[in-house]
Amino acid sequence: MEVNTENIVRQFLYGGEPIGKQFPALHQSVYGKPLVYFDNAATTQKPYSVIHAISDYYSTINSNIHRGVHHLSQKATDAYEVSRNAVAAFINSRSSSEVIFTKGTTDGINLIADVYGSYAVKEGDSVIISAMEHHSNIVPWQIMCEKHGAVLKVIPMNENGELLMDEFERMLDERVKIVAVTYISNTLGTINPVKRIIELAHANGTPVLIDAAQAVQHVAVDVQDLDCDFLAFSGHKMYGPTGIGILYGKEEWLEKLPPYQGGGDMIKTVTFTGTEYNELPFKYEAGTPHIEGAITLKSAVDFITELGVNEIAAFENGLLQYATSLVTEIPGIDIIGTAKAKAGALSLSVKGVHPYDVGVLLDKMGIAVRTGHHCTQPVMDYYCIPGTVRLSFAVYNTIEEIDYFISSLKRAINMLV
Ligand SMILES: Cc1ncc(COP(=O)(O)O)c(C=O)c1O
Repeated sequence: MEVNTENIVRQFLYGGEPIGKQFPALHQSVYGKPLVYFDNAATTQKPYSVIHAISDYYSTINSNIHRGVHHLSQKATDAYEVSRNAVAAFINSRSSSEVIFTKGTTDGINLIADVYGSYAVKEGDSVIISAMEHHSNIVPWQIMCEKHGAVLKVIPMNENGELLMDEFERMLDERVKIVAVTYISNTLGTINPVKRIIELAHANGTPVLIDAAQAVQHVAVDVQDLDCDFLAFSGHKMYGPTGIGILYGKEEWLEKLPPYQGGGDMIKTVTFTGTEYNELPFKYEAGTPHIEGAITLKSAVDFITELGVNEIAAFENGLLQYATSLVTEIPGIDIIGTAKAKAGALSLSVKGVHPYDVGVLLDKMGIAVRTGHHCTQPVMDYYCIPGTVRLSFAVYNTIEEIDYFISSLKRAINMLV
């Protein structure tokens, strides 16, 4: 693979300085070597702006939301809703009432699988997912199918890790009640043609949920342009806090679907004979939420917006192309996932070597990669491998780090083969 290295940006600058300076966790040594962090698909490091926002929250705002008249409660409530508005703008949602705070992608998918299942799915119906889904976009649908007697169908993929769209079209019929697919595969890096998937599903009268856990930090996501019905993502993979995520849902759906959990905040009135549910988005936010996470998610959104998601995408694409071209030159390595459209992740399989052993040796050289099935066991089964060594990129990674990774990988392979 030919890559023109002259045009590749070696590092992302912020205020004339490497963006990595904004991330304190990167400034440490591991086994005496400077940390090189390539495990960003699992979770990203946090910039000072997010870390300071968390500290500020507990130092100046900490209070429960929506229920208090006192000053701090008002402040917390305002900040919580300001953050919701920022997220709505970030994904171009029509209204912030379509933006629900969740624990993360997994939580959002489980919510829809549960409430949509009760609302729309009957015995003999089907649900379509794809061959490259994360377990959190498989298991909730399996549970839902089991509960309602429905069948789970899977869009197949080819060797490159691209979905077979003709097969998908053939699978669509009147029994398909929902389609749930990942925007970008966390293992293969494939960017799926989600807009086309949504168009085809809608032509069949079927709503679509998009798993955007690996998308919002790498590409611009516009829910109105996509026309998706539901979309879920996690704060911690986009430079934000852990334990907070977003479920976007079209108002028309969220209005008619039943509530998920019952409790405080999701009600208007309660008597022993019945309950009137709260309006959107509160209907789906029962109990005291992760207030600090929700409020400080705004700092992560602001961080990405300030850098420019398209600029991040172009820069990371350079990293991916560069790493891919160098890895291709190493004998005995297969790249798992060679789709034409890719972002974020580069998965490798080293012939005759278990990925775990490579990961352990790289760790001793200060490099954090993830090894294993990456919560996509069916993908491993498809390629008949136990796992991969996965590098996944963030805006603070550099070309120098990739050079160091390549020389370290060669050393590791020499030790193991
Ligand atoms: C594609 C994809 N979907 C869903 C998830 C689950 O995200 P979370 O664990 O934050 O809920 C992940 C996490 O790696 C993922 O990569």
